[in-house]
Amino acid sequence: MSDNQATLNDGSKTTNMPIRSGSIGPDVIDIRKLYAETGKFTYDPGFTSTASCDSALTYIDGDEGVLLHRGYPIGQLAEHSSFMEVSYLLLNGELPSADELAQFSRTITRHTMVHEQLSVFYRGFRRDAHPMAIMCGVVGALSAFYHDSTDIADPEQRKISAHRLIAKMPTIAAMAYKYSVGQPFVYPRNDLSYTGNFLRMTFAVPAEEYEVNPVVERALDRIFILHADHEQNASTSTVRLAGSSGANPFACIAAGIACLWGPAHGGANEAALNMLKEIGTPDRIPHYIARAKDKNDPFRLMGFGHRVYKNYDPRATVMQKTVREVFDSLKVTDPLFETALRLEELALSDPYFIEKKLFPNVDFYSGIILSAIGFPTTMFTALFALARTVGWVAQWNEMISDPGQKIGRPRQLYTGPVQRDYVPVSQR
Ligand code: ACO
Repeated sequence: MSDNQATLNDGSKTTNMPIRSGSIGPDVIDIRKLYAETGKFTYDPGFTSTASCDSALTYIDGDEGVLLHRGYPIGQLAEHSSFMEVSYLLLNGELPSADELAQFSRTITRHTMVHEQLSVFYRGFRRDAHPMAIMCGVVGALSAFYHDSTDIADPEQRKISAHRLIAKMPTIAAMAYKYSVGQPFVYPRNDLSYTGNFLRMTFAVPAEEYEVNPVVERALDRIFILHADHEQNASTSTVRLAGSSGANPFACIAAGIACLWGPAHGGANEAALNMLKEIGTPDRIPHYIARAKDKNDPFRLMGFGHRVYKNYDPRATVMQKTVREVFDSLKVTDPLFETALRLEELALSDPYFIEKKLFPNVDFYSGIILSAIGFPTTMFTALFALARTVGWVAQWNEMISDPGQKIGRPRQLYTGPVQRDYVPVSQR
């Protein structure tokens, strides 16, 4: 391998492939001409070694436990910034000035209402429908309402659809919750923050005033920051793949929501809390650790392990601290938090987890806070979807703006029957 190219010898031919460097992180071997030159594909199910795009949004160093958005460390953003500011940063590449932030927040606030006709959709769902089922349907349906922002070739329409999606997700998620508990929908209020407004739309009832608790508002805003983007994860790649065909942004985000729902991805926060409930008390932890290590048992420690982080997920550090702040403010405790802390301690001192580099991820503690705030477990993944929408939209927009963008179309290693002749049913 020379300085700027890799050499592949497939047994019959030697092929040189350029090596490209990003601003930080591993170089990539550009294999785009490989098939043309060798007649062979690469094989990488799960994309463990494959970069699918150029991106200037988010950088992760999984070995060091580093997460940067547009260069800024997640710990600093969680500590000092707001979800609105991080959204602006992800969408525009730079932190906003005070005026730009005020203008952006105003724009998002003014888009929080949904078309009144959309509320009729909810009545088509069973009351016990999972909020993610409702979110998939309702977000996909936005494209039937906002025709003036579905021309993806027009940057202005892309911007408007991005603002609409970010602004309406809290309304849509809160409506999903309200519908499930049989309470009337609460309309957004423009004098509240993005997160305060969401709390009110979720928990207020017409019978009394609702006051936003500033500690809870800040904690939830921080949770939104922690979930805002995470480079080319499964749901983001889904959004990009859906968008690569030219589908409209609302349809693409609905696809992302569907992917996020799975327990190996966004559904892990719900699964992690359910697991902690099942474990119950710390004395039962060793039994569950033994199960997680047993190759014949499908049980895994939910909220543990990550495709990219082979170190402590920096988001889990912030999350653990936030649990304490929320508990202090609400003057509550949750024995499950003690169970979680003990589980983490025991797992991190166990050779199985040490060798496999399995650490708590963002979902390990998030369920405990969300539950303390009053969200039912079924809403956890919906909250994740709400926050991740800005990342999805920013990544989708980055892809559409790339002049070299192509439809995403992986290859395969075919293992089915070779060509054979059809046999009529009477002769089979
Ligand atoms: N508990 C027990 N063992 C685990 C766990 C776990 N949580 N996670 C991974 N392992 C083991 C696997 O059994 C495997 O062992 P092996 O090498 O002996 O076969 C090894 O660690 C590597 O695991 P893979 O599944 O191959 O790793 P992959 O990168 O494909 O999966 C994933 C990552 C899906 C996150 C996995 O760690 C997992 O299922 N964790 C639990 C679910 C979870 O918390 N998901 C949230 C991810 S964060 C997010 O989406 C926001």
